[in-house]
Amino acid sequence: MALVEGRLAERNRAQQQIAASEKLAAMGQLSAGLAHDLRNPLGAIKNSAYLLKKKMTSNGVIDANSNIGKYLEIIEQQVAKSNGTITDLLTSSRVMPPTLTSTDIDLVLKEFLESWVGTDNVELSQYVDSDLSPVMADGDQLQRVFLNLANNAREAMPNGGRLTITAKSVNKNVEIEFTDTGEGISDENIERIFDPLFTTKTKGTGLGLAVCQEIVKQHRGTISSRRNEESTCGTVIQVKLPAMQMP
Ligand SMILES: Nc1ncnc2c1ncn2[C@@H]1O[C@H](COP(=O)(O)OP(=O)(O)OP(=O)(O)O)[C@@H](O)[C@H]1O
Ligand SMILES: [Mg+2]
Repeated sequence: MALVEGRLAERNRAQQQIAASEKLAAMGQLSAGLAHDLRNPLGAIKNSAYLLKKKMTSNGVIDANSNIGKYLEIIEQQVAKSNGTITDLLTSSRVMPPTLTSTDIDLVLKEFLESWVGTDNVELSQYVDSDLSPVMADGDQLQRVFLNLANNAREAMPNGGRLTITAKSVNKNVEIEFTDTGEGISDENIERIFDPLFTTKTKGTGLGLAVCQEIVKQHRGTISSRRNEESTCGTVIQVKLPAMQMP
């Protein structure tokens, strides 16, 4: 019976992954189309504002009425802002195929932690095995995964807590875990956290974990969540990546 249940859970998980992958790919395509269609008119607005400014400066119109210069500047600023939003839209849902090279997870974690902004009330601990096996990975993409996991942990602990990051070699894998002492995930939500657009946050996009899952999948790894049993509350997110086979 337990075996059947295990197989069913495994199949459900595989189906969830395929559905999430397809949804993310569809969103990526939609974003790319939208970005293309919006960038052209934005480019035309930007050029026109530039030419207007140039002409009006040479005619002395701008000097005579300083408000005109100000309005043109507002147009330029808002076009730049819209272009930034389009770039965010494109990068948030798109996962490019990884460039796999022999990678040391401890270095990727170190680099990531140098740039990550935590909060004063979240204590950070790190335990990384000294004999960690290298993995075939795209370091930049793994940094994106770690950033999403650390941000989620931070957001789950608005009143403070502890984030523990561990990395160790287990059998033929490297296991990286982000453990927090935050609010935890309800049984009802646990099945949905990797679904694209699933969020419980007012300002969340719900893409963070979906992107993590896609990246990890492209590295032939797995990502999963469980309750933090070592604390009264909190979550563990585990990323498992296949260790490089030594000749
Ligand atoms: N460490 C965690 N503790 C508690 N809940 C979590 C944790 N990580 C993820 N979740 C839950 O999973 C949901 C989905 O997470 P995900 O990172 O995909 O999106 P988000 O954080 O809501 O938004 P985004 O990452 O796009 O800003 C979250 O809204 C939250 O409910
Ligand atoms: Mg998130």
